[in-house]
Amino acid sequence: MRIMMIGSGAREHAAASALSSSQDDLELFCFGSSVNPGIQVLCTGYETGDITQCDISVDHARRWKIDLVFIGPEAPLESGTADALREQGFPCAAPGAAGAQIETSKIFARELVKKLVPSAVPRYHTVKTMAQAEEALDLLGEHFVIKEDGLRGGKGVKVSGDHLSGREEALACCREILQRSREFIIEERLEGEEFSLLSFCDGESIIHMPPVQDHKRLKEGDRGPNTGGMGSFTGPWGVLPFLLPSDIQRAQEIQETVFRGIEEETGEPYRGILYGGYMACASKTAVIEYNARFGDPEALNLLPLLEGSFAKILQAAASGGLKDLDISFSPKASVCRYLVPLGYPQESVKGIALKIPPADPSVHLFLGSVDLQDKELVTAGSRTLAVTALGDTIEQAHQASLHAAEDVDGPLYFRGDIGSEALLKKRIDHMDELRGHPLRIGVLGSTRGTSLQLLLEISRQSDFPGEVCCVISDRRDAQILARAGQFSVPRHFVPKQRREQTIHALLEAYRADLVLCVGYMRILSQAFCRAWEGRLFNIHPSLLPDFAGGMDMDVHAAVLAAGVSETGCTVHHVTPEVDGGAPVLQKRCRVLPGDTAVSLKKRVQELESLALVELCRDFQKAYKHDRQNVRGTEQ
Ligand code: AMP
Ligand code: GLY
Repeated sequence: MRIMMIGSGAREHAAASALSSSQDDLELFCFGSSVNPGIQVLCTGYETGDITQCDISVDHARRWKIDLVFIGPEAPLESGTADALREQGFPCAAPGAAGAQIETSKIFARELVKKLVPSAVPRYHTVKTMAQAEEALDLLGEHFVIKEDGLRGGKGVKVSGDHLSGREEALACCREILQRSREFIIEERLEGEEFSLLSFCDGESIIHMPPVQDHKRLKEGDRGPNTGGMGSFTGPWGVLPFLLPSDIQRAQEIQETVFRGIEEETGEPYRGILYGGYMACASKTAVIEYNARFGDPEALNLLPLLEGSFAKILQAAASGGLKDLDISFSPKASVCRYLVPLGYPQESVKGIALKIPPADPSVHLFLGSVDLQDKELVTAGSRTLAVTALGDTIEQAHQASLHAAEDVDGPLYFRGDIGSEALLKKRIDHMDELRGHPLRIGVLGSTRGTSLQLLLEISRQSDFPGEVCCVISDRRDAQILARAGQFSVPRHFVPKQRREQTIHALLEAYRADLVLCVGYMRILSQAFCRAWEGRLFNIHPSLLPDFAGGMDMDVHAAVLAAGVSETGCTVHHVTPEVDGGAPVLQKRCRVLPGDTAVSLKKRVQELESLALVELCRDFQKAYKHDRQNVRGTEQ
């Protein structure tokens, strides 16, 4: 297969690397705005020129006998390159100019999302005159954001408090914009944490990638002007620790609606990549923006994590069949860090020589805005290069990417804090404070998990103080996993090898506050029980210590055989000794004449459902109380 890539930045270097590292029989060609030596060595043909000129792209595709085109940046999307290529019979994994408006026109995007999912849109005003600007600022109060329309490379946004202090500065900014643009947007400033959700689209299906957090601000601690993005990270198993799974679920639902909405609005199926920028707020997920392409730097995290053939995915995005592919990502964390010239973004120092030592093979190095002068690599002005490291934890990936960035020789600047423990803690604390510290519930189970049903239902209600964050099973076909799936709760099958270590790492990744064993058929080790001491509970279908040790139906049969008049369920702490840990709560019911093991099981399961909900509520109360006490002693 002969693939042409349009674009020549670090994102395209990541795409070219992903394409050439797969097993596919393919040849790569690039039409870029400059020579990127990182991409060039991977290509059979390479041309530079104005990549927004559709006819030049078509000419190259014809000359190179291209089978598939991938477009990296937004500018050729805006000029209709994908339309021109498709018209000439070249399959293209990118939207046409109409679909790309979701990125190229902020007003188109806002109006479409407002029509489709009104609750996801911040309050906003489209402004054409200074009088309207004054009125919008009056209505929004002190928290607002001013956004220019059109493509601005992530730099056309000014946020109150950060970039603009007070009304006078805001009005001056509006005046300046109106001198060059007909209209722009002023919108409510949202409070929360941002994340990017990217999806592959083939006009019919949409497949989501793991969420990523980009860092748009130039300086450490999220200060300074907005940039194209200084770096980004993903968490292990695609979990960002400051979010809840329901944040991702909501973003996915919004993204699916917008994907279908673009086709309804433009009459053209949307192909390629759809990228949503979201803000997880106290009790909703809001849309910040959409892009019609891979994020930069997000692609630099996601492509090294992608398992399987990127070429096949692009082929399906262009011509259909995404839903038949098995698309998966490595469960590792990734941290990407951009190195930029001094003075970036306003007055970048150009033409400075770089020395890049051979990186550790576990680190991916992507060249961005560079030039070759006398066979020497020099800075060209925009983001110079990026390093992405993978690791079992965000901390591991952070350290590896930090070392790789430090090893690059040249007067370059990078943010050392992206992926650091301190910055993560800041994000986690920010969200937890906003939301009142929701309880994060992890579940282990091997069976049907009937008694988890109520907790799954209730935990998605807004007045429940937390949510089930993951369900983990030692059996691939356990019904409890399918049950979790019905509620879009993340589920994981953990096979035998390193089972407990993996379960522990998963629970840590989801930041589980407590762990419920619901029909979990394995004995947990001393080390595991100790690590989760006080936070690990099992539910057993009898009034312990009576009828300890048995499983499921055997317990009810033993209750009947013993002729006792009362039974029930017990939630107890888990120790390595089966059913031996201290009871925490019990619920009772009568054994009725005519009861069978089946009828008893049903009655006890209803009690188990209630007990699990009660346990979580009690745990959250005690937990809040403890935290207040800790705060009290700190003060
Ligand atoms: P955009 O170009 O729309 O992606 O915006 C760039 C950056 O401005 C975002 O990544 C946010 O950090 C910030 N921003 C945009 N809109 C809002 C908003 N409504 N509330 C708070 N911050 C925002
Ligand atoms: N990560 C920001 C962008 O690609 O626009």
